Amino acid sequence: MTIPPRHLLQLNDLTREDIAYLFERTRIIKDRYKRYERYHPLADRTLVMIFEKASTRTRLSFEAGMQQLGGAAIYMNTRDSQLGRGEPVEDAAQVISRMCDIVMIRTFEQEIIERFAAHSRVPVINGLTNEYHPCQILADIFTYVEHRGSIEGRTVAWIGDSNNVCNTWLQAAELLDFKVHVSTPPGYEVEPERANLTGTDHFEQFPDPHEACRTAHLVTTDVWTSMGFEAEDAERRAAFADWQVDTPMMKMAASEAVFMHCLPAHRGEEVEAAVIDGPQSVVWDEAENRLHVQKALMEFLLLGRIE
Ligand code: CP
Ligand code: NVA
Repeated sequence: MTIPPRHLLQLNDLTREDIAYLFERTRIIKDRYKRYERYHPLADRTLVMIFEKASTRTRLSFEAGMQQLGGAAIYMNTRDSQLGRGEPVEDAAQVISRMCDIVMIRTFEQEIIERFAAHSRVPVINGLTNEYHPCQILADIFTYVEHRGSIEGRTVAWIGDSNNVCNTWLQAAELLDFKVHVSTPPGYEVEPERANLTGTDHFEQFPDPHEACRTAHLVTTDVWTSMGFEAEDAERRAAFADWQVDTPMMKMAASEAVFMHCLPAHRGEEVEAAVIDGPQSVVWDEAENRLHVQKALMEFLLLGRIE
C-alpha cells in the first residue's frame, strides 16, 4: 500500500510543531546558503510549477530554491500547455505527478488545487489561490521571529482587503496563538468560513484602520485588487481610499512595530512610500525569506523530518 503524499494546500495543513520544525530547518538552510555551503538533499528530484496567474517572487524562490537543493524545476503556465485548453484537472494531476516529485500550483479557486491534490501521487504546494497564500505567511512569520522573536501573544494589524493573504494570517493566528486586528472597508469584511477558521477568538474587526493599528507589533497590508478581481478595480480604489497604511497609522502601533507587505506593492495606494521605504519596513527580508522557508518546506514534504 502506498502512503498518500503530504500536501500544503492551506496553512492549517501544518501543525504548530511542524511550523516550529520548518523554522528550525529554515534557519539551518539559510545559514548554509549564506556561507556558500553546498546542500543537495533533493538531487535528482523535480519540481513542477504550474502558474495560472502572474508571479515574480513565487516563481523565482521555488525555481532557485529547488536548484539550490540539487534538484530541477520546470515552469508551466496555462497559456502554452494543455492546462488552458480544458484538460480536466484530475487528468493533469495524474500525468504531471507521474513525471515529477513535487508540484507547486498558483491558481484561482481553492477547489482547483484540492482536486489536483486528490489525484496527485506527489506532494502539492499552494503557491497562492483566491483563498490562501500559505508560503507567504510562513515567510512573514519567520521574518517576524528573526527580527523580534516569538509571535505568540503578539498583535498583527491587517489593513485593507480580507483576501487570500489575510485569510492565511487568520489561520496562522489560531495555529500560533496570536491576535489579528483586521480593518477593511464596509462590505469587504472577513468571512470566517472562507478563511476556514475554527473560531473567532484570534481576530477582531475594526471599522477604523487607525484603531486596528493601536499597539500592534506588526502592521501589514496588501493590494486592494488581487489577481482575478481586476474587474472590480475602480470600485475597490474608491472603497479602499482611507485604508492606506500611512505614517499616522504606524505611529498608533507599538514603537518597535515592523511593517510587512507580501509585494508587489503600490506606493500611494495601499501603502505610503514613507512607510514601505521607512525604517520599520522589513519587506526585503520578508521577500528573501520566501526562498529559505520554501526550501525547508520542500525538504520536509519530500524527506520528512531530518533527525
Ligand atoms: N508575494 C508574492 O507571492 O509575489 P509574486 O506574486 O511575485 O509571486
Ligand atoms: N492578494 C494578492 C497577493 C499577490 C502576491 C493577489 O492574490 O493578487
